[in-house]
Amino acid sequence: MLEQKRPAQAKIGKLERLKTLLARDPGTLACPDCGAALLLARESSALRCARGHCYDLARKGYANLLGRGGGARGVYGPALFASRRAVFGFGFYEEAARRLAALAGELLRPGEAARRGGAARPFRALDAGCGEGYYAFALSRDASLSACRFYGLDLSKDAVAAAAGYAADIAWIVGDLARPPFRDGAFDLVLNVLSPAGYAAFRRILAPDGVLIKVLPGRDYLQELRALCGYQDRERGGGGEAAAHCERHMRVTERARIRYVCAPQAEQKKALPAMTPLTAGKHIDPAALETLRRITIDLEIIAGRPL
Ligand SMILES: C[S@@+](CC[C@H](N)C(=O)[O-])C[C@H]1O[C@@H](n2cnc3c(N)ncnc32)[C@H](O)[C@@H]1O
Repeated sequence: MLEQKRPAQAKIGKLERLKTLLARDPGTLACPDCGAALLLARESSALRCARGHCYDLARKGYANLLGRGGGARGVYGPALFASRRAVFGFGFYEEAARRLAALAGELLRPGEAARRGGAARPFRALDAGCGEGYYAFALSRDASLSACRFYGLDLSKDAVAAAAGYAADIAWIVGDLARPPFRDGAFDLVLNVLSPAGYAAFRRILAPDGVLIKVLPGRDYLQELRALCGYQDRERGGGGEAAAHCERHMRVTERARIRYVCAPQAEQKKALPAMTPLTAGKHIDPAALETLRRITIDLEIIAGRPL
């Protein structure tokens, strides 16, 4: 009996938490249909705008502002997010998350007084293309960002449903980062990790002195997995073109590289191929996967203001 009740109670808890988060931050969400403020309807679990557009909140603790099941899956299906969740659980990305949190804290600090404008206003941070939510979760746990209210946005309902499983005060939203369902200037920080960027949209939703942290795969990112897939050296990730594209769309104020190597255990290796779209359509020989001794995390960080 108790066993059956538990999941339902957990879901109700998540929905109530989401409602509390949205109610404390009225006017941050904007209707994806008409752009008007999207507010929590009294005594209900729905968001409504003045023009009558209405979006139900999911019992699992997220708001789907795309409707009809969320965005297209393509390579980003439930298996990829489950695998990412497992790999994040191994701790391979802890160092990256710690460094990103430290950078975010540093970038937010100088403008703190000006941003607050005398009245104590909390910072808002958005993880745009949050996937299963690891970075938003990790940053929300960092002491230097305790004054931040966190939002996570992803096109994939599978991803956002998984993200809502993290026990954290984060408002999880299914939506398109090219048309983010937020009011102008809502955020002090937009984080965009290994996901497509919408520079014009990010500029619109950032406060005048808000900052974008864009994370790209570095040249050596998962190079051992790439090699197993048969990618040639010249097909390596990161570096040149992706970073140059970023620079054309941002006034860059900070650059950093996070590069380190992890040693996966035998069981952990099995989760690696499915965690990345790099392996989509590629065959990896299981015996070759077993021989993997190390895996390189190499991320390029570009921070600044979208142009
Ligand atoms: C490689 S995953 C990275 C996810 C997460 N940032 C991480 O590092 O685990 C790329 C993510 O971008 C999301 N995405 C792709 N296009 C998007 C869009 N137009 N709006 C919002 N999310 C999008 C995908 O659904 C996927 O979750």
